[in-house]
Amino acid sequence: MKSPKCRPRRLRINRLIREKFKETKLSISDFIMPYFVCEGRYIKRSVKSMPGVFQFSIDNLVKEVSASLKLGIDAVILFGIPDKKDKIASRSYASDGIIQKAVRALKTEFKNLLVITDVCLCGYTSHGHCGMVVKRNNKFYIDNDLSLETLAKMALSHAQAGADIVAPSSMMDAQVKAIRNALDKNGFMDIAIMAYSAKFASGFYGPFRDAALSSPKSGDRKSYQMDFSNSKEALKEVMLDIKEGADIVMVKPALAYQDIIYRVKESINLPLAVYNVSGEYSMIKEACRKKLFEEDRIVMEIMTGFKRSGADIIISYFAKDIARWLR
Ligand code: PBG
Repeated sequence: MKSPKCRPRRLRINRLIREKFKETKLSISDFIMPYFVCEGRYIKRSVKSMPGVFQFSIDNLVKEVSASLKLGIDAVILFGIPDKKDKIASRSYASDGIIQKAVRALKTEFKNLLVITDVCLCGYTSHGHCGMVVKRNNKFYIDNDLSLETLAKMALSHAQAGADIVAPSSMMDAQVKAIRNALDKNGFMDIAIMAYSAKFASGFYGPFRDAALSSPKSGDRKSYQMDFSNSKEALKEVMLDIKEGADIVMVKPALAYQDIIYRVKESINLPLAVYNVSGEYSMIKEACRKKLFEEDRIVMEIMTGFKRSGADIIISYFAKDIARWLR
């Protein structure tokens, strides 16, 4: 038998060659770490449905972020748990609201930390929906255009507190445009928008609603979040957000949506972020607790899959663990 000239295995046999010529490499700078912030002091409350995830009061958040920065995590996205919820989400845009205070504290403490804020009403409304609820003909509706005013006020207050990027996630139509206008009108032309453009109505958000206390009291989010059967619609949402002024677009969740990640990346020339959501995190944690997998091995495999599919940036509750594993 003549030996074949082309032997793909040659690139695999030698460990040094294998490492050097990987097509996809993860780096800690690919990641954004999410944090939940609450009022009070000395609080580090574990989230039952998400092992290893906590609600931090601002003093403890500062300590936690300082430790993460030392591991190389230089970007965070913040979710607020307000002291009080009401029908109009009034604590979402207050200058002394939880996120506004947290952003100011982090920006004062850390010069090299990229601070991103989630812009959505679900954590701030008494009904737990992402937009304003109104009653018409004895039925409840999410009022898209009314919600835009509040979302714009909320994003503006985050920018005033010092956020670098605002990330609208309510899936109200034209939210990016409303926020871009409000920012520009107030001199925040340089604040970027990371749009949750293709956000699907997903069962994988379950544990997050426990962490952020943001479950809808009645109904679901299917009238504003996308149907997971649709991919052309995802592209349409992305294109609309880009037209409205998005600087970075996002696909969320990530694990069951890698075809969407691939298609979006192929059709845009902006950075693409993906959100490895709470359910994807808790599912792995639980399986590893049962010793079904080695955690570092499967997490790295999944994260590499996101990047191979086209993700430029990955938002993940595993970011701090990954930082350790990459060392
Ligand atoms: C706010 C928001 C949600 C998530 C991010 N921003 C919850 C939802 O839409 O119900 C989910 C993140 C996660 O599951 O980790 N609307």
